Amino acid sequence: MTIAAGSNRSSRIAGFHKLSPRERLDLVAGFAGLDDAQVTHLANMGNLDPVLADKLIENVIGTMNIPVGVATNMKIDGEDVLIPMATEESSVVAAVCNAAKQNYETGFFTSVSGNLMIAQVQAVDVADPAGARIRILEKRDDIKAACDACDPVLVSLGGGFRDVEVRLLDTPSGTMVVTHLIVDTRDAMGANAVNTMAEKLAPAIAAWSGGRVYLRILSNLADRRLARARAVWKASDIGGEAVRDGMISAYEFAAADPYRAATHNKGIMNGISAVVLATGNDTRAVEAGAHAFAARSGRYTSLTTYEVDKDGNLSASIELPLAVGLIGGATKVHPTARACLAILGVTTAERLARIIAAVGLAQNFSALKALATTGIQKGHMALHAQNIAMMAGAVGEEIDRVARLLVERASVRMDVAQKALEEVRGG
Ligand code: MEV
Repeated sequence: MTIAAGSNRSSRIAGFHKLSPRERLDLVAGFAGLDDAQVTHLANMGNLDPVLADKLIENVIGTMNIPVGVATNMKIDGEDVLIPMATEESSVVAAVCNAAKQNYETGFFTSVSGNLMIAQVQAVDVADPAGARIRILEKRDDIKAACDACDPVLVSLGGGFRDVEVRLLDTPSGTMVVTHLIVDTRDAMGANAVNTMAEKLAPAIAAWSGGRVYLRILSNLADRRLARARAVWKASDIGGEAVRDGMISAYEFAAADPYRAATHNKGIMNGISAVVLATGNDTRAVEAGAHAFAARSGRYTSLTTYEVDKDGNLSASIELPLAVGLIGGATKVHPTARACLAILGVTTAERLARIIAAVGLAQNFSALKALATTGIQKGHMALHAQNIAMMAGAVGEEIDRVARLLVERASVRMDVAQKALEEVRGG
């Protein structure tokens, strides 16, 4: 049965947030005219407890299941690691497996710059910005005491306030005095910790600066929390010097051109966001930080570098902000995130960030290798063909058979899939 759409087409639904997920779903079904199958589908929350789902965000009516795949072959800092990746995009998991297979002997080496997060406090209408900057810096000890008092648990774990910086920003409405609180958030992503500190300090900063405080919020450009990874692929293992040189040319294209760099970095984030999501971390925070970091010189560029090393092999590296944690947000409460963290076997946020950086590099290696050789479509289409086969109605064993026909015919299209399905069913 389809619930007729239009019985109530108003988006103003009083008390919507107070309803149960099922009650909300019924209202939405009425609004949108969802059929029974769609309602049953949305009501099935899979392996996420509806009570928990309803606590994680507001106005819940269902869940969105994304496949979790595991990338194999990764060796990171001498340790074999299985990587859970949550993504809707085919080829992403396979790309990491393939890249890691080609340098399994040596693997990836990683490091981090620390766990420091930055919170910003914006003061405006300051009569003497230069003087205000010095007055705020004079208060370092008071600032440290106030920040650390906000989070004694963090301090007991070795974290807490580390430094204060004050920047003067010229804007159309005058010079802003922007105070940066630099805080070691240890194994937390740290947004809550530093936002609390910024809000707590705001009145004092207003008084010291003689201005008015507006924004008090973390910066997602977490450039004091950089993760790095490097790896070498032997030229002989990747198809020879011509492949190596094609990949370096692909990197140089991204380094020189923001149009290409956006796509190059998107590919890197295919891997990074998949692990960030699988572990219940904030994909948008990491993505914002990565892209802002890629533009730090004033021109948007590649997050990775590729060179020929002294032995003629391909030497690659990546560096980017990676604000991820093991506590707080969904990481601790989402059972899938907890299970994924258990697969990774990580006990610190630093290790998680290091693994994620290595995954980003592996992802990028595979994309550049495919692009510099056969092109991306060959491998991509084999997997994409399965999606098209399913969209055409193939089920069970039909999916692989139809997908194979599409690849053989070099035509991964819906109409071709429908015809292929008829053939498979007919024969
Ligand atoms: C597709 O999701 C990602 C690529 O476009 C990345 C790249 O071009 O480097 C293949």
